[in-house]
Amino acid sequence: MSDLKITNLYKRYGNVEVLKDINLDINSGEFIVFVGPSGCGKSTLLRTISGLEEISSGALEIGGRLVNDVAPSKRGIAMVFQSYALYPHMTVFDNMAYSLKLQRISKAEIKKKVEAAADMLQLGPYLERLPKALSGGQRQRVAIGRAIVRNPQVFLFDEPLSNLDAALRVATRMEIAKLKESLPDTTMIYVTHDQVEAMTLADRIVVLKDGVVMQVGTPMELYDTPQSLFVAGFIGSPKMNFMTGKHAESYKAHTVGVRPEHMKITPNGSGVWSGKVIYSENLGSDSYIYVDIGEEEAVIVRQDGKTPYHAGDTISFAPEADLYHRFDETGSPITTGVVTPVKAASIRSANPANSAKGGAPDAGVVGSAGAVAMPASKTSAKKPAAKVASPKAGTVKTAAARKAPARKAPAKPKA
Ligand SMILES: Nc1ncnc2c1ncn2[C@@H]1O[C@H](COP(=O)(O)OP(=O)(O)OP(=O)(O)O)[C@@H](O)[C@H]1O
Ligand SMILES: [Mg+2]
Repeated sequence: MSDLKITNLYKRYGNVEVLKDINLDINSGEFIVFVGPSGCGKSTLLRTISGLEEISSGALEIGGRLVNDVAPSKRGIAMVFQSYALYPHMTVFDNMAYSLKLQRISKAEIKKKVEAAADMLQLGPYLERLPKALSGGQRQRVAIGRAIVRNPQVFLFDEPLSNLDAALRVATRMEIAKLKESLPDTTMIYVTHDQVEAMTLADRIVVLKDGVVMQVGTPMELYDTPQSLFVAGFIGSPKMNFMTGKHAESYKAHTVGVRPEHMKITPNGSGVWSGKVIYSENLGSDSYIYVDIGEEEAVIVRQDGKTPYHAGDTISFAPEADLYHRFDETGSPITTGVVTPVKAASIRSANPANSAKGGAPDAGVVGSAGAVAMPASKTSAKKPAAKVASPKAGTVKTAAARKAPARKAPAKPKA
């Protein structure tokens, strides 16, 4: 059994609380991914699980056994770090065999274990090489192999791929996915900054912020029904757009969130929002259009294929069907009530030309998590993991954020 139970776990360095009341139940054989902004405590949580850091208070159980005071080597865990730190003077074989030699395991047994791990990671041809004669991805695989031979119950990975270039990351990510399949009973906990790794590898994702667990769920649960503004903005790349103030009025919300891939461009100003394009990115397969509607950050609209819109154009857009999320002023999802949208015209009252054709956002019954229920087919078709993040993905400040707070109403959409 390699299930983990973390109960009321705190980690303090002096007066600084780095982990606050962490409660997690991780099933045997599950692949769990920790994500969160830099400094939120991901590595610290992993290191407390490994035993490299002491727990200040709370309980950690592995396989039903309380391990708070059990030495790292006796916890049945193995950890793979970002820096693989192989012994440079030892061959791949010896690097992988090292911990087994320390345990005085027989030569024949060591050979069997190392060769099996090398097979699993396609390192067979490299066993006699020194690390310096390997690529970064191969070295990282040796580091993983070194952990596999120990036959851990629980595998801990701390950003193992972040030193690799883009192509190698993809290849090594697939290796890790295969590794997971070949070790179905081994529990894996994996820290990453990479959205694609999190979405594709995880059975469940744990989102951390400032040492607190914000939400735990499957990738699609987090994507479809974020339980807070924070999670809504954190999961997904480029991130969810947030419209506030008068831009959220017709949704009877403090903030309405719409993912770039759920915005559709509407003709003749018939959308919910409109504004000037300040920047557009053509990636070939898809495009991102950054639009200034008077929010601090530009609204990002994703289009399939190449976009005809450029800086200076005015476009109008709306959420697809009912693919939007409503939040109150505390950042919690609004879970009650039915949105009775006001005509979009009222949002753009300063621009009668647009108002004349103002369409209204689709009404939707709000689901239990505050996000309006989405058709399953749409949800799966829009799985974000398959998409490479826009190279510029992130936030683009608008003129409003840079200069005057007062803004003119957006000009008439060109469509
Ligand atoms: N030994 C220490 N003494 C004091 N504070 C520490 C110590 N180690 C870590 N911290 C603090 O704990 C917090 C969490 O650090 P941690 O390394 O877990 O973050 P992280 O989520 O892994 O970040 P990153 O994504 O940058 O790796 C940080 O604010 C860090 O400064
Ligand atoms: Mg870290």
